[in-house]
Amino acid sequence: MATFKPLFISFEGIDGSGKSTQCKMLYHDLLDRGYSVHLFREPGGTRISEKIRDILLDNENMEMSAITEMLLYFASRNQLITEKLTPALKRGEIVLLDRFVDSTIAYQGYGRNLSLESIQKVADVAIGEVRPDLTILVDTPLETAEDRMDDRELDRLEAENEDFKQQTRNGYLQLARKEPQRFLVLDGRESIEVLKRTITERVNQLLETAS
Ligand SMILES: Nc1ncnc2c1ncn2[C@@H]1O[C@H](COP(=O)(O)OP(=O)(O)O)[C@@H](O)[C@H]1O
Ligand SMILES: [Mg+2]
Repeated sequence: MATFKPLFISFEGIDGSGKSTQCKMLYHDLLDRGYSVHLFREPGGTRISEKIRDILLDNENMEMSAITEMLLYFASRNQLITEKLTPALKRGEIVLLDRFVDSTIAYQGYGRNLSLESIQKVADVAIGEVRPDLTILVDTPLETAEDRMDDRELDRLEAENEDFKQQTRNGYLQLARKEPQRFLVLDGRESIEVLKRTITERVNQLLETAS
C-alpha cells in the first residue's frame, strides 16, 4: 500500500534518548501494515554517506574542527537526500530518518557554539526546502540517557562532555518551541510502549490526512 501523499518523519534526541528504538518499531509497524516505508540513519544511509559517517564518528579524529564537522554532516545529508529521500518521496512513499538537520543545529550550533546563521547558509545549499512533515523529539534527561548507554562503546560525539550534551538537549527544546507544529516532543522517561503508542497515534493522523 503506497501513501497517496509522501510522508517524511525525522527522529531526534541526544544519544541514549531512545530514538532508534522508536523509529525501528515504527518502521516495522508500517511495513506490517503494508506501507512502502524506508528507514535511514544519519549520518549514513548511502554508500558515500556511510563513509562520511566513519570519518565523523572515528575517535581518532579528535582534531576535527567544528566547521569541518558541520560540513561533513551536510555532505552526508545531501547525498542521502539526492540518492534516496527525494526519489522515495516522489514515489509517494514514507521515509523515516534517525536524525536530520535539527541534529546539526542542536549539536554543532547549540553544542559547539557555531553560529546558527552559518549553519543556515550551508543548510540552504545542502538541503534546500526539504523539511520533515513531522519531527519526533525524544527528550530524555542526560542521566537517564547515560544510564541507557552503559554498555555501548562511545563514538567521538557520544564521548563529549556533559556541558555539550546539556546544551544540545536545550537546543533541541528551543527548536521545538520555535516550530510547535512540526515537532512532537515526548518525555523519554516514559516506557517504550507508552512512547510507541503516542507516536503511532500522531502518525496515523498524518496518514489519514495524507490519503
Ligand atoms: N523508553 C525507554 N525506556 C527504557 N529504556 C529504553 C527506552 N527507550 C530505549 N531504551 C533503551 O535504551 C537504550 C538506548 O536506546 P536507543 O533507542 O538506542 O537510543 P538512541 O538511538 O537515542 O541513542 C537501548 O538499550 C534501549 O533498549
Ligand atoms: Mg540511535
